[in-house]
Amino acid sequence: MDTQIDTIVDNKKVTLNSNVLSYSDNRLTDALPVIFIHGFPFNMEMWKEQVNELKLSFRTITYNVRGHGDSGISDGQYNLELFVDDLMALLDYLKLSKVVLCGLSMGGYIALRAIEKYPERFNGIVLCNTHCYDDSNEVKIKRFETIKKLKTAGMYGFEDDFIKSVFTELSLLEKKEAVKLIRSCIESNTVTGICGTLLALASRTNTCDSLHKINVPALVIGGEQDKIISHAQLQMMHHAITGSELHIIPDTAHLTNLENSSTFNSILKSFLQKIEF
Ligand code: MLT
Repeated sequence: MDTQIDTIVDNKKVTLNSNVLSYSDNRLTDALPVIFIHGFPFNMEMWKEQVNELKLSFRTITYNVRGHGDSGISDGQYNLELFVDDLMALLDYLKLSKVVLCGLSMGGYIALRAIEKYPERFNGIVLCNTHCYDDSNEVKIKRFETIKKLKTAGMYGFEDDFIKSVFTELSLLEKKEAVKLIRSCIESNTVTGICGTLLALASRTNTCDSLHKINVPALVIGGEQDKIISHAQLQMMHHAITGSELHIIPDTAHLTNLENSSTFNSILKSFLQKIEF
């Protein structure tokens, strides 16, 4: 069944690390703060359903990663460390000493690197449709081919191919609102932002060796039919992070939070309710 998705209210902008960052914050200052990090090549609007579900019980913060949505593009040259610097600058700006990280795919890569570097700043981590590995040569070469195509042909055809790769066949037919939302997220981005991010993804480092050091509650969520993140990669993280929970959501692919938002939200909510604040 398809559901209508409300919009994230309260969109703000701040200049951090010499670049404009757009974010939302419900400012529920007495509640556990949770920061949502979107996947590539989307924007923070992909978390609408989760913000709507959680906004009365948790402090919900979303933002557009540099080069995405209406955050600044800067010089178009990014790396994962810079994305982590922006995340930490936003937390400092909001005066948040500790938060729960919730990242999907690229958002998970950023979350894993952030917790590896600054473990004292986080009191929980939610890893959705993501893994800890760096890119194989094959994936790197594919990203460079995509950059070449985007630079010669522009965005033409890019969204369609991407959309087909992240939803199940059934979601493509039945989750029209979710597909529309993801299309508009992709269209909010520019060739410069997307190419800069592809280089950041291709050059990122592996965070697998530090998983065993994560000593806060951790939740791993995967999609039964995800073509980008394998079950073995999810299992590996689950086994490496002591006490972590693993949920594989049936009939979903790479966008579990949109393809089965009710199951995703209930797993997320019950996990967050257990975190001491
Ligand atoms: C994402 O959803 O963030 C991307 O699929 C991640 C990737 O390309 O590795």
